[in-house]
Amino acid sequence: MQTPKQNLLGKFMSDLLRKKNPDEFLEQSASGGLKKTLNAFDLIILGISAIIGAGIFVMIGSAVIGTTERVGAGPALVISITLVAIACIFPALCYAEFASMIPVSGSAYIYTFATMGEFAAWMMGWVLMLEYAIGTIAVAASWTGYLIKLFEGFPFLPEFLRNPPVWLVNDYRTVVETVPDAAVPHFLGIPFCINLPAMLIIVIIGLILLKGIQESANFAKIMVFVKVAIIGLFILVGAFYVRPENWTPFAPNGIKGILMGAFAIFYAYIGFDAISTAAEETKDPQKNLPIGLIGSLVICSLIYCFVTVVLTGMMPMSSIDLKAPIAHAMTFVGQGWFAGTISIGALAGLTSVLLVLMFGTTRILYAMARDGFLPPVMKKVHPKFQTPWVITVMSTILILIGSLFINMQVAAELAIFGTFTSFVIVCIGILILRKTEPDRPRPFKVPFCPWFPIIGIVFCSGLMFVALREVKTSAVLFPLWIVIGIAIYFAYGYQSNRKEEALKLKVIEQKPEKEKLERK
Ligand code: ALA
Repeated sequence: MQTPKQNLLGKFMSDLLRKKNPDEFLEQSASGGLKKTLNAFDLIILGISAIIGAGIFVMIGSAVIGTTERVGAGPALVISITLVAIACIFPALCYAEFASMIPVSGSAYIYTFATMGEFAAWMMGWVLMLEYAIGTIAVAASWTGYLIKLFEGFPFLPEFLRNPPVWLVNDYRTVVETVPDAAVPHFLGIPFCINLPAMLIIVIIGLILLKGIQESANFAKIMVFVKVAIIGLFILVGAFYVRPENWTPFAPNGIKGILMGAFAIFYAYIGFDAISTAAEETKDPQKNLPIGLIGSLVICSLIYCFVTVVLTGMMPMSSIDLKAPIAHAMTFVGQGWFAGTISIGALAGLTSVLLVLMFGTTRILYAMARDGFLPPVMKKVHPKFQTPWVITVMSTILILIGSLFINMQVAAELAIFGTFTSFVIVCIGILILRKTEPDRPRPFKVPFCPWFPIIGIVFCSGLMFVALREVKTSAVLFPLWIVIGIAIYFAYGYQSNRKEEALKLKVIEQKPEKEKLERK
C-alpha cells in the first residue's frame, strides 16, 4: 500500500509530467481554419527572413577576432560555419517531423507539452525567451551600429548624428569595456548610458506588432530581397580586394578558436525554426517543410561561407570592425560609397529579424498564458486589432529594460544557449514520441532515427558545454535564467494549473447534479 507521502510525491510527479494530447492542439488549430497556401519557396523566404541578420552583419566580427572573454576562429571561421550548418541539420529534421505531425503555431513549446509534459513545456517556453526576447536585444544593438555607419556616409548631416556621444548609443557595460575614458553623465550618482536608437527600433516594432503584422508581410518580403542582394553585391565587389596573404595564419587559435567561432556564429543560424510555425498554413507539409528547413539552411550557409572568405581576405584580422564589419570592410578598401549601401541592406535585414523575433516572443508568451502559466490578464486580445496587446506591451517594456543592462555580445550568447537547449529538447522529444506513439501518422519522418536525433543532441550539447567553460558572463547568467524560470513556475504556473484542474473537476462533478435538477 502507498503511504500518504508516496501518494503526494506521485501526484506531484504526475502534475509535472501532465501532457497535452497532440490532438488537442490539432483540434484548436482546425477551429482556426487557416488556409494552406505556402509552398517550399515561401518557406525558404520565410526562413531567410528570420535567419540572415545580426549574425552575418555584426557577430561575424567577434567570431573572427574574438572578444575579451573568448578567442576567435580567424579566417578558419569558414570551417566553423560548415560545422554549425551540419549541426543544425539534425534538429531541423526533427523540427520537420514534429511540424508535419502537429502542424500548429507555437512550435517547440507545443511539441514539448505533447511529449514531456507541463514542467518541461514551461522550461522550453522560458528558454525560448532567451532565443527570442533576449535575442532581440542583440539585434537591436546591432541595428545601432549600422545606423551610425549609415549616418557617417552623409557629410551634410549634423555632427550629433554622424558622431553621437557614446553614452547615447551604447549600454553602460560596452562603454566601460570599450571606451573607459569616455565622458558619461551621471544621474543620482549612477552613470547613465542608453542605446537610444536600439530602444527606438524596439518601440517601433512593438507598435507594429500591436497593430498586427499582416500589413507588414509584403514589406518583410522586400526586406529579404534587399538584404540578400546587398550581401551578393558585397561578395562580388569585395572579391576584387581579396589579398590571399590575409588568410594566413588561417586558424590562429587552433581547434579551440574554430569551436568558439562556431559557438559565436551559431547566432547567425537562429531563427530557422520559425519555419515550423508556418506548418499549419503549408501545402503538402511532408514534402515542403523539410525542403523549406534544409533549403534555407543550405542557402544561408553558402552565403555565410562566401561572406567569411571575402571579409577575412579583404583585410588583416586586426582591422576587422566589431560593430559594422561588412560596411567597414568597404570603407577599408576605399569604397566608402558602398559602405552606405551596405548599411541600408543591413538595416533592412536586421529589421526583418527583429520583426520575427519580437513576433515569436509575443506568440510564445501568449500560448503560455493560454495554458495557465501566466496571469489571465496576459491573454487579453485587442478588440480592434485582434492582437495580444497586453503581452505585446509588456514584452516590449521588458525588452527595453533588458537592453539597458545587457550588452550585444552577452545577449547574443544567451540567445545561443537558449537555442541550443531548445534544439536538444526537440531532438529528445522525437525520440520519446517515437516510443510512446509509434503509430501516430507522421507525414515526414527523420531518417536514420534514433541516430540523427542523437547526433543532434551530441553536437548541440557538446558545443554548449565547450562554450560554457570559455565565456564568463553568459555562463553565469544562463544557469541563473534557468533557476529563475524554475522559481517562477513553482511560484505561479504550477499553482495556477492545479487551480484550473480543480475547477474543471468541479464542473464535471457538478454536471450530474445540474442535469438532475434540470430534469425535475
Ligand atoms: N539569425 C538571426 C540573426 O543573425 C537571429 O540576426
